[in-house]
Amino acid sequence: MCGIIGVVGSSDTLETLLEGLQRLEYRGYDSAGVALVRQGETWRARVATGTESVAALRIECKNAPGEFHSGIGHTRWATHGAPEAMNAHPHVDCSGNVAIIHNGIIENHGEIQEQLESRGHIFTSVTDSEVLAHLIEEFRDQGLELVEAVRQSLHTVRGAFALAAMDCTEPDVIVAARRISPLVVGTAPGVTYLASDVPAILDRATAFYAVNDDEIVRLGPEGFRAIDLEGSPVRLRQLQIDWDLETAEKGGNDDFMSKEINEQPEAIHATLLDRRRRDGSIIFDELRVSDEELRNVKRVVLVAAGTSHHAALVAKYAIERWARVSVEVDISSEYRYRDPIVEIGTLVIGVSQSGETIDTIQAAREAQRRGARVVAVSNIVDSSLAREADAVIYTRAGLEVSVASTKAFVAQVAALELLALRLAQLRTTMPPEDIDALFLGLNAVSAQVATCLERREHVRDVAKQLLGSHDFFFLGRHVGFPTAMEGALKLKELTYLHAEGYPAGELKHGPLALIEPGVVVVAVATDPAMHEKILSNLAEVKARGASVVAVATDDDEAIEAVADFVLRVPATEPMFTPMVDVVPLQLFAYYMATGLNRNVDRPRNLAKTVTVE
Ligand code: F6R
Repeated sequence: MCGIIGVVGSSDTLETLLEGLQRLEYRGYDSAGVALVRQGETWRARVATGTESVAALRIECKNAPGEFHSGIGHTRWATHGAPEAMNAHPHVDCSGNVAIIHNGIIENHGEIQEQLESRGHIFTSVTDSEVLAHLIEEFRDQGLELVEAVRQSLHTVRGAFALAAMDCTEPDVIVAARRISPLVVGTAPGVTYLASDVPAILDRATAFYAVNDDEIVRLGPEGFRAIDLEGSPVRLRQLQIDWDLETAEKGGNDDFMSKEINEQPEAIHATLLDRRRRDGSIIFDELRVSDEELRNVKRVVLVAAGTSHHAALVAKYAIERWARVSVEVDISSEYRYRDPIVEIGTLVIGVSQSGETIDTIQAAREAQRRGARVVAVSNIVDSSLAREADAVIYTRAGLEVSVASTKAFVAQVAALELLALRLAQLRTTMPPEDIDALFLGLNAVSAQVATCLERREHVRDVAKQLLGSHDFFFLGRHVGFPTAMEGALKLKELTYLHAEGYPAGELKHGPLALIEPGVVVVAVATDPAMHEKILSNLAEVKARGASVVAVATDDDEAIEAVADFVLRVPATEPMFTPMVDVVPLQLFAYYMATGLNRNVDRPRNLAKTVTVE
């Protein structure tokens, strides 16, 4: 996730870009850069400081020469290529005339770069984005206007993008385009803007327009015109923005938590993008563990805390089922104190959204000290865990601000299940066609999550009816169990009410004694193989007076007999259900909390990143 901004026709170009980048820093901040363009000259500044890149860029720009009326800026969240200045945007073509910024991933950048290099292009970064500058350069060399050069280039690239391009031989024009990654255009008299997000230009533009997938916009001081990929004119929808800056930073949502819940389809999509070669093999560019090592893994140990621990529990089921390797999951703070056994062939995976949780870092260090290979699954590029581990897989959920983790969880499950499929591929424990089918199924989860989000009003309604309750049991079986644990964690941390996650089959071994009228049982009942058993468990609690809320698939009629409230979700492959089923549970916790006037972004006693043991 990166942030992009552009302005054309301004008398205050540099300040507009720097201010906008500051507001986009939530989208990434490991490097930042601007390119200012006037007739025959492109001036560029780029810095990579890891955390305060926009502030450092401001200092770097002190020496920017003279007046420029147009420019583009970028703040980066590294995916391809290390967070270093050479990989910071804007990137330029061989002539230095064309400058581009890009948010997203160009999936086929490898093959395009090979072809461009064979035609003499020189690349100066290790990014997927730079191919765009050189592709546009080739079309410009054929005499095409910038907007046409961009349009033609987009026919070559696959993947996701919000991009902007400039050329100092056509200085008062910016061309922007979008596929999947967000992009808005803003206008004010004599000035036109583009940005990843409204807040970046909120106090400068007076009207805002949404760019849709596969639309290309030519921006000039006088305004903009938009076309589709075939070159036909399209109209951009005007956005009704009556937000103040604070609301705008939350994307128009009341708080960061609902913004982040809403971003889950994008988080899953981005995490899965660019992970499969043409021959079907699953790849993790950043994973520096050889296929040979992965093939010979004898045991996997996952260490994590809180929500990340629940994602790790889901991964256990997937890795064992698909790759036939035995998996242990440990709470990070327990691992290093139990004298863990690390044999040859043990792969330890540290799962952490922040990559800074001290318990998980210490567990990974302990594993390394005992000779294990350690892989980090982190949402923050170059986090401490990512740096210390032997290898890393990045989830690409984007910055998570709200203390309660939501989009990081679904991205972690997606990344870990993808790793499970990679292990299955290497160990030939499943037929290739089954792996292909699962890969396609995994890619469909993003849309299923979007469907769950559309049903938020019903969840709000159910939460409203249960507002007076004080005791909650969340039950599930198989991967429904970690999902239930996650639902209980969300509820307790956001509402401060008592909630426990339990394996449904374990209830009768003790906790059933606590069930009485007034207790709410929330059950994850979406796995067909476990369905009858869950129904029996629910009948048991209902007979003892509990109110039952069930997460059930659209086609499940039998659930009505045992549930007082049903939260419907689309059916999916059982192993993928945690990503789908968790959504109504997050929403339930969210609406219970807002109903109780809790601060959902900053629950009491908690911190986003726990750096003490
Ligand atoms: C719960 C939550 C925490 C974190 C835990 C680990 O909503 O956010 O339980 O999951 O503190 O944090 P990371 O993943 O950053 O290691």
